[in-house]
Amino acid sequence: MARAQAIPCLMGVLVLNLLISSLVFPLSATPLKRRKSLNTIKYLNHKGPYLGLITVYPPEEKAFFATKAFKLDPIHPFVDLTGRRFRVGKLHGKKVIYVRCGVGMVHCTSMNAAATTQQMLDLFDITGIVHFGIAGNVNNSMSIGDVTIPKQFAHTGIWDWLGMELEQCVNSSVCLPQKPKLVVGLRGSTANIFVDNAAYRDFLFNTFQVSSVDMESAAVVMTSKSNGYPVIVIRGLSDLAGGQQRQNSIDIFGPLAALNAAKAVIQFVKNYHKMPSQF
Ligand SMILES: *[C@@H]1O[C@H](CO)[C@@H](O)[C@H](O)[C@H]1NC(C)=O
Ligand SMILES: *[C@@H]1O[C@H](CO)[C@@H](O)[C@H](O)[C@H]1NC(C)=O
Repeated sequence: MARAQAIPCLMGVLVLNLLISSLVFPLSATPLKRRKSLNTIKYLNHKGPYLGLITVYPPEEKAFFATKAFKLDPIHPFVDLTGRRFRVGKLHGKKVIYVRCGVGMVHCTSMNAAATTQQMLDLFDITGIVHFGIAGNVNNSMSIGDVTIPKQFAHTGIWDWLGMELEQCVNSSVCLPQKPKLVVGLRGSTANIFVDNAAYRDFLFNTFQVSSVDMESAAVVMTSKSNGYPVIVIRGLSDLAGGQQRQNSIDIFGPLAALNAAKAVIQFVKNYHKMPSQF
């Protein structure tokens, strides 16, 4: 009796396992497909080098694609490898490889971000990494919708950001009270937790003088730097990380913050040739 029950139960576990692995690794490939992908990468590298673009989760990707600035390569628009889709194309005429770390996951952990960065650098002919997305705001002099390019993460150099128009409204009815701004040179922070706590927010700001909190940037920066590559982090502020009166605003202002970060990325890539030689 117990045994008879165990078999369907085992089958259930197997089916569940298959289901989970197909959810977590939806793009996992057979050895043949893998070889094909590696060949495509070899071919693509002949046409490089590329600027590596790394974002985190679907709403950021959606905002970036919605700008329509990223034009996919008509022949090889993407390469799938180890569960990640590397998209190939151009941004303002500059060759880029774009990837989102942690396919199918809500948040990519810093481990995932590091692995994705390492893989990008190992596989492709990359000149530098642009990491972007949204972050929590822990600096009371900053506002939701603002874009931050932290100094401790980025080699920002000096170039002209004038003329950057950031979005103030989610739609016709939901707007921020003030026009968002782009701030270069503050400090950012990364942890494996989603910060949504007023006391901890104040502690972070007062102790480390950090202005933003996210879950990936430090990993991307560390991986890029330890491989000898330049990196810049561009984050749009989506919420107050616990400093708010009511519920966290990431659901309402996340898409706006993601769009503003994407706009800053596009502007950065457009001006890429003006960058100091370190980049
Ligand atoms: C907080 O943000 C403002 C910019 O809005 C900046 O001037 C200030 O230096 C930041 N504070 C810290 C401690 O970085
Ligand atoms: C505007 O965005 C908010 C927040 O996402 C949403 O609740 C509301 O329905 C939207 N309104 C319109 C007119 O699209």
